[in-house]
Amino acid sequence: MKNSRPTVLLGVTGSVAVFRAIDLASQLTKEGYLVDVVLTCGALQFVRPLSFEAVTHRCAYTDQSPGILAGRAIHIELAERAGIVVVAPATADLIGGHACGLAQDLLSSLLLATAAPVLLAPAMNTRMWGHPAVRDNVALLERRGVRFVGPESGLLSCGTEGPGRLWPVDQLYAKIQELVPMAAHPPDSPKREGKELAALGQRSSSLPQEGDKSKEMNEMADKKKPGKKPAVRKTEKNSKKGPAAKKK
Ligand SMILES: Cc1cc2nc3c(=O)[nH]c(=O)nc-3n(C[C@H](O)[C@H](O)[C@H](O)COP(=O)(O)O)c2cc1C
Repeated sequence: MKNSRPTVLLGVTGSVAVFRAIDLASQLTKEGYLVDVVLTCGALQFVRPLSFEAVTHRCAYTDQSPGILAGRAIHIELAERAGIVVVAPATADLIGGHACGLAQDLLSSLLLATAAPVLLAPAMNTRMWGHPAVRDNVALLERRGVRFVGPESGLLSCGTEGPGRLWPVDQLYAKIQELVPMAAHPPDSPKREGKELAALGQRSSSLPQEGDKSKEMNEMADKKKPGKKPAVRKTEKNSKKGPAAKKK
């Protein structure tokens, strides 16, 4: 019987709070979630994908990742496999871009392509958070159904005091669990599993198998849980750049 574990798409953007996202990815993985991490170019200024790969045991994606994953455009595949899209930390830049409907990189593209709930956890300087442009963007996104958690108040790394700190990781985890509980994802029926495997088999046989880092890492992660079938994972082709080059 297939044990269907919810997938959390964790978007990570260019904030000093980026390191706390590693703890979040680690906690989610330990609790049984599959965690797909997508880092923006901004996030890569602070941290490397390997930090996330080491705790999620899965490939982390960037704008340099191959454009095709499991035989589909990477932003569509990641958007559709996600049970929830969480961006933590979410910069003013990410919030503004999403409010404007921009698809300028992998993360902003999949945010437009997903049907899953979206949870943003902002982190920024207090005056940035209070700026009318940011306030308007947050209000607009909330009207569209995007959920926000935080920021909390405190002493920020820039030295100012006030709202702007990333919401505490354990409370972020609790919020994700509330929105996508493990219990809502019981083992699938053998009938559905058979259909899914047949579909995956069809797709994977038409694609090359070599040099597929994400396939190998995701299989490793899947095998860690008892009851999980050895992945009949889909493949990606290392031939294309991300869906769009970063604007900066
Ligand atoms: C040291 C440093 C720290 C930063 N911290 C933040 C932050 O906490 N929140 C934020 O909104 N922007 C912050 N920025 C600005 C963003 O990194 C910048 O807007 C970047 O373009 C964001 O790109 P991204 O949203 O694609 O990751 C910081 C910049 C620097 C140089």
